[in-house]
Parts: sequence; structure tokens; C-alpha cells
Amino acid sequence: MAEQNKLEKIVALCKRRGFVFPGSEIYGGLASTYDYGPLGVELKNNIKRAWWKYFIQDRTDMTGIDGGIILSPKLWEASGHVANFKDPLVECKKCHHRFRPDKLADPSKCPDCGGEFTEVKMFSGLFKTTIGAIEEEGLTTYLRPETAGAIFANYKNVLDSTNFKIPFGIGQIGKAFRNEVTTGNFIFRTLEFEQAEIEYFIAPDADWDSIFEQWVEYIYGFAELIGLPKKQFFNHEIPDAERAFYSKRTIDIEYQFPFGQEELWAIAYRTDYDLSHHQAASGTNLEYFDDVTGKRFLPHVIEPTFGVDRTLLAIISQAYDDSDSERTVLRLSPNLAPYKAAVFPLLKNKPELVAKARGVYQDLKKHFNIVWDERGNIGKRYFSQDEIGTPYCITVDFETLENDTVTIRDRDTMKQERIAISELQAYIQKSLE
Ligand code: GAP
Repeated sequence: MAEQNKLEKIVALCKRRGFVFPGSEIYGGLASTYDYGPLGVELKNNIKRAWWKYFIQDRTDMTGIDGGIILSPKLWEASGHVANFKDPLVECKKCHHRFRPDKLADPSKCPDCGGEFTEVKMFSGLFKTTIGAIEEEGLTTYLRPETAGAIFANYKNVLDSTNFKIPFGIGQIGKAFRNEVTTGNFIFRTLEFEQAEIEYFIAPDADWDSIFEQWVEYIYGFAELIGLPKKQFFNHEIPDAERAFYSKRTIDIEYQFPFGQEELWAIAYRTDYDLSHHQAASGTNLEYFDDVTGKRFLPHVIEPTFGVDRTLLAIISQAYDDSDSERTVLRLSPNLAPYKAAVFPLLKNKPELVAKARGVYQDLKKHFNIVWDERGNIGKRYFSQDEIGTPYCITVDFETLENDTVTIRDRDTMKQERIAISELQAYIQKSLE
């Protein structure tokens, strides 16, 4: 399958089955914005839950916060975003399409119409907003371009309200906003997206290199957990000349998407750049007091960062399988699948089958996200569930009425087993462990 073609098929499936819809579609759309539909929100929540458990709850040195999207503009001045979060932009004088010249193969003429470009202008990636009733008198601030800001701003609050000692980390999942010039490739680069970020605080004299390496390894553990194979990844070590001046090491963790190898996640050693700037700009002492050595210092930071939407795109691209001409399957791990099972009555016009199946559905629904389907024939229902990644299909048939057993059909092997209704919960539960 041509890979771009694969992306088109994924985009179509996402819309048709309710994973991802184009943003503001009834108004003709709004470029580079998307909405998650009924199945997309389940998948995304399952990814975020897996991330939170693995990175925050499973570790003894991690905790979390949920900071604001609107923060003081002083924070973004201190972080350097107001001055530096800018990209070069050129506009075609003929068709008025805009591009980043550094991303064009030939930056001298428009790739869409061959027109001439304007001079290069710098373009802020920050979305401005105004706080206050009267715009002219209001306070201008920005929608956060990354979630990290609130972590730095609250690092002292977290230390003061918990028992954590350095080294420790704070994680956060939430929306970020960037006024991107170049967009495209579906949900890969959008104006509004979700990040899952960690700021891991270490002593200035810690062996940062080995802590960095441990994080890289731990990140690959997450990739395995969510079903992304190691061979699809590439660690792009950012060379000195391209790295932010304050970073001693940055790796872009790239992934082989259907449209090419691109950044999925990243990890950076940011020294004490952030805390020292926030300390200077806020006038608040952000030093850590080490009660064992009696020393005070500004912690250094290692920052693993993840795009949730890109992770979802990588997972769907990996799971998508239309190699069988009969059916398309999303081979999602049961933990991530929007529905853990589907329940069907064999025939929808037999009230006794429907009532029995309804009972099985209601009981299982207390424990898992389960879907009901009685449309069409059984084969069609199976294929319909395969396409959205439902691991099991449970059918209530005439034998069920006699002995309280059902068939359970496996998405991947397409094999069916007959099991007791009383065993269903444990059967599904086992697939999630
Ligand atoms: N705090 C560091 C930081 O924000 P970044 O590399 O600019 O680093 C982190 O962003 C992650 O956020 C990226 O690896 C990517 O997964 C995701 N991301 C960034 N811009 C995005 C966009 N416009 N659309 C979707 N995801 C984006």
C-alpha cells in the first residue's frame, strides 16, 4: 500500500467511524483543527490513562498537576516564548498561500502556483488573548504553547505540599496552542493539541547523562506498552549547532508515520534555564534546600515531552491493517481499544434473544466500555467491530437460552469459543492485564 494512500484511508476511517472529524465542518471547516468523535475520545482517554499510570502512578519519584491554559504573560516573557517563539514566514504574492521558507525545497517560488514570495517575516507562534471586559484596557496574555510553564510555576508549591525530594518529577497532560504556519498531515500538526509533559528535577551535580539515558529507556517501555514497535523509531540526536543554547542534550524521538519519519516525542536536558529565568523574573526564590547536605541550589531539569494526538496517530497507523481483502482491522491493544467487547443477539427479530443479549450487555457494561449492535447480519457486525478495533464480539444465540453460554469471537484470530456467561467478565478482564 502506498503510504500516503494509507494516510488517506486512515483519515477516511477516522471520519466514517467517529474517531476524528474535521473541525467546524458545517461552516466549511477551519484549517488544521479537528474534533475527536465518540470513538476518538475513548481512544485518546485510554492513551492518556496509560501514560498517566506508567509515568506518574507506577513510579515513586513522580507526581502530577493540572495547571491552567491561561497563565500570567510574565511567565511567557520569562520563558523566552514572547521574544523567541517565532517562525519565518513567506507569502505568495499571487495565491497568498503561506509557507515556512526553511521547510521548502525551493524557497524562491511558490510550490502551489509558482508565484513570487514576499520578504521573509517573523511570525509569532503564540495565540494572543485579552483578559478583561474592555479590549483596549485588558491584559494581553497567551494561550499556553506548551504545558511545561505551569509545572515550573508550581514546582515550589508541589515541594511544599508533598514529601518529594530531589530527584523527582512533575507530569501534566493538557491542551497547548500554537499558531502554526505549516500544518497538514491530519492531526500531526494542528493549532490546538494535547501534550503530556514531564519536568524531572535533579541536583546540578547529578549524573545527568545517565538519568537522561534511563528516561530514554523508560520512554521506550511506554512505546512497547502502547504497541508501537521499536523498529519504527529513530533517535534523532540534535547537534550542538541546532540545539537551544541552554540545552546540553536533546533527542527528537522520531517515528515512521505513513507520510515519513517525523518527531513523535522528545527529551531534553534543559539545565537550570527555566527555573533561573522564572526566579529572576518573578522575584520568588525557587531554590531547593537539601536537608541532608544542608545545601541550597536551583535544580536542573530533564524534560521528556509527548504529543498525545501524534501518539494517537502513530497508534492508529500501526494498528491499521487492510491486508485482508475481506475486512479492515484496527489491531489496537485491548487496553487502548474504545470498546472492550460488542454484544449481539443472533437475530434481532427474536425478542427472547434480544432480551437475553440485552442482559449480558447491561451486566458487562458495569465493568467495561461495551457496545451493542443488532444491525445487519453477524458477519457484517464482526467486520464493523474489527474496523474500530473491538477485541471481542459476544453473540447470544438459541443455545444461550438453554445453557447460559455464548460465543466469543476474537478480532485477530477470528476464532470463536463457547463460554459461560458467568465467565465473560474474567475473560475480558484478563485481556486488559
Ligand atoms: N516543552 C517542550 C515542548 O513543547 P516541542 O517539541 O515543541 O517541545 C512537544 O513539543 C511535543 O508536542 C512534540 O514532540 C509533539 O509530539 C507535540 N506537538 C508540538 N507541536 C504540535 C502541533 N502543532 N500539533 C500536534 N502536536 C504537536
